[in-house]
Amino acid sequence: MTKTLIQFENVTKRFGKMIAVDNVSLSIDEGEFFALLGPSGCGKTTLLRMLAGFETPSEGRILIDGVDVSRVPPNKRPVNMVFQSYAVFPHMSVADNVAYGLTIEGVAATERDRRVEEALALVKLDGLGGRKPDQLSGGQRQRVALARALIKRPRVLLLDEPLSALDAKLREQMRSELAQLQDKVGITFLIVTHDQDEALAMASRCAVMNRGLLQQVATPSDLYEFPNSRFVADFIGSVNMFEGRLLVDEQDHAVVETKELPTKIFLDHGVSGAQASTVWVALRPEKIELHKRADGAPPPCIEDTPVDHNVAAGVIRHITYLGSESVFDVEVTGGRTVRALRSNLTRWDQEDFVGGEAVWLAWHPCSPAVLLS
Ligand SMILES: Nc1ncnc2c1ncn2[C@@H]1O[C@H](COP(=O)(O)OP(=O)(O)OP(=O)(O)O)[C@@H](O)[C@H]1O
Ligand SMILES: [Mg+2]
Repeated sequence: MTKTLIQFENVTKRFGKMIAVDNVSLSIDEGEFFALLGPSGCGKTTLLRMLAGFETPSEGRILIDGVDVSRVPPNKRPVNMVFQSYAVFPHMSVADNVAYGLTIEGVAATERDRRVEEALALVKLDGLGGRKPDQLSGGQRQRVALARALIKRPRVLLLDEPLSALDAKLREQMRSELAQLQDKVGITFLIVTHDQDEALAMASRCAVMNRGLLQQVATPSDLYEFPNSRFVADFIGSVNMFEGRLLVDEQDHAVVETKELPTKIFLDHGVSGAQASTVWVALRPEKIELHKRADGAPPPCIEDTPVDHNVAAGVIRHITYLGSESVFDVEVTGGRTVRALRSNLTRWDQEDFVGGEAVWLAWHPCSPAVLLS
């Protein structure tokens, strides 16, 4: 049975006339690894700071375990925060840094030392307690900050861009370590990031924010495959977006016409709630097939797709080789550039297509997402 641990109820935060967080309602379950995503300035840190008690909501309530925490001071909340620029005390040893919260609380030395050992082992820093922070790598320093937060055994750990100071390779490693750590300690994690890959890789659920508003709350795969708006589709991953209008909208299929493509877009599902005449179609690059056209003829239709739908002729204008895959920018008839992605499954795949080559693009009727806003 999952249990709700955190509830934001219609929470708004204003700084003067600026609305930093706009009427946010959100529930987070015990044991979740929840990620807050969004562009700079959208209100992520402010939302965390209100949960931690460093800011007070202008309106609305925040509940932890069903209890309104508005009047509970930060140090009495079952919440601990790891900050954007992880602050460890440079003059203290690793062990003293980790012990800090317990020392302040006056926990007895034997108990304190035992818990420091335990916390250091948890973040794989066993034996490094005697070092100073400047004798550690960036990743190790970050783990000191984590251990220092975990040692207090909070119900919720708030992580504000915890990996932003690390290089790409280390970030990736810390990502899986954080996920494993969370699994092990069972504490609810609420992490802020503006790195969408990081959120998708670690979180059990994500919320996308924009200008103080919650745009969508979903699992990583639902956010990516079923975005609810252009903003989310565009923010998470790379996408081709086409503006058009619904020609057909039946229970089991739909057709969108767009001036941007020399083909109609056929979908194997209906579009519910579409009243407006304008819709947007989001099509991810990896869902677009690239076909040779030696004889100029279009490729055979993808299963269950009417002729002349979901297939567009074009010319490769640019190829970006990324090692495991290559990105193709294809100018389709009419002038629009469409991006397609292709895995380099063999060592020679990257040489299959060349710049300037005429190709066909094709996609499955289940691939495009139709967006109403
Ligand atoms: N103490 C403050 N006084 C006035 N404005 C503030 C204050 N704190 C935050 N803001 C404003 O509120 C908005 C949201 O800020 P916040 O720090 O929550 O954004 P963020 O999503 O964490 O951004 P970033 O990704 O850059 O860290 C911003 O426009 C910011 O300038
Ligand atoms: Mg921030």
